[in-house]
Amino acid sequence: MSNDGYRRIALGNHLLHTETLMLGYGYDPKLSEGSVKPPVFLTSTFTFPSADAGREFFDIATGRAAGKIDSAGGLVYARYNHPNAQIVEERLALFEHAESGAVFASGMAAIATTAMAHCRPGDVILFSQPLYGGTDALFHHVLPQFGIKAHTIADPASAEGLRAAVREAEAKGRLALIFLETPSNPLTTLSDIAVAAEMADESGKRQGHRPILAVDNTLMGPLFQKPLQCGADLSVYSLTKYVGGHSDLIAGGVLGSRKAMAPLRALRPLLGGSIDPHTCWMLTRSMETVGLRMSRAAENAATIAQWLTTRDGVKSVHFPALAKPGSIQARIYAKQCTGPGTLMSFDVGSRARAFAILDRLKIVKLAVSLGGTESLTCHPSTTVLSGLSEEERLAIGVGQGLIRLSVGIEHADDLIADLDQAFAG
Ligand SMILES: Cc1ncc(COP(=O)(O)O)c(C=O)c1O
Repeated sequence: MSNDGYRRIALGNHLLHTETLMLGYGYDPKLSEGSVKPPVFLTSTFTFPSADAGREFFDIATGRAAGKIDSAGGLVYARYNHPNAQIVEERLALFEHAESGAVFASGMAAIATTAMAHCRPGDVILFSQPLYGGTDALFHHVLPQFGIKAHTIADPASAEGLRAAVREAEAKGRLALIFLETPSNPLTTLSDIAVAAEMADESGKRQGHRPILAVDNTLMGPLFQKPLQCGADLSVYSLTKYVGGHSDLIAGGVLGSRKAMAPLRALRPLLGGSIDPHTCWMLTRSMETVGLRMSRAAENAATIAQWLTTRDGVKSVHFPALAKPGSIQARIYAKQCTGPGTLMSFDVGSRARAFAILDRLKIVKLAVSLGGTESLTCHPSTTVLSGLSEEERLAIGVGQGLIRLSVGIEHADDLIADLDQAFAG
């Protein structure tokens, strides 16, 4: 096998697909007694072959050796690096042909480290809305305590909306980070990543400092959307969702160029958001099937979203593939995504009606989170977005009648039968 340096791995002239590479890339059985699957390396620290090697490994792991931050050096200490994390990082990077990847103890650790690595006091973070509640709280309430200002983008789908927001943010301070969550959670509205990248370039020329464009790719990635290929600098994941995919672990990840990733990799061990070997081993196992799981669940989701549009009492259904033909949303979906994902939300008019439907469901489980093999549903206003005021929620289009649904890999007919009896009750 050969690797041309851009994560395109070939067998002779034949380029291998990510589906194949998920089963073995980044791990050599010869190094572990021939074990087909990687062992879980349950150790906190690693022996150095010599004192001088220890010095060099430390320089590389802490980011002091310029240009040598990835897995170029040896293993040091599990808060800096360990083999199970390196395997996940190598494999995750394949999905977006990224130069570098880093895994974290949670999606929030990945997002917080990204923001803190690229912003300093006085800087501004510009972000799309709605945003996952935890990210929203971090940007609106926590980072301002460290002098990092928040500014929101009213309309991240259009060039005019993005340009206006970038200008407003620049008026507040140095625009250091543009953060898009696309599709958004829970309304699945899409932001235009390529246009945001152009705006970041324009801003860079005006400010003399190009802001980093980071995209939360949790809802579509790694299968249906590749932010790095659309011009983003960083693609951020809650790996807890589709990549982990079984609702049994918490993890996060970031992909990007070596340059954009270097400050994150250096900060991760200092903030301590590093991930443990066992969770990484589970991620490696999950990544073997992520393509199969997401494709099947997305087929189910498309069937269910369509069915919901035919139900009496459903005021609106939010799902990327249902964007009105000819609309900006439909245009972004066509150019940016290769599938609809599996998350949708729909409005049944009132909290009482939403709670009644949620309480009657038998197969779909009432829980927050998404992207697992099983279908999960929740009431965003009183759970994941309960940190926002009613006024703030209404401003971003989340009313009390809204239900969020993450569709799993059950049989679509069974899910529809379950929803049908819940609606009818
Ligand atoms: C879009 C999105 N980003 C980030 C997060 C945070 O991820 P984690 O729970 O793994 O910290 C979530 C969690 O629900 C999410 O939905």
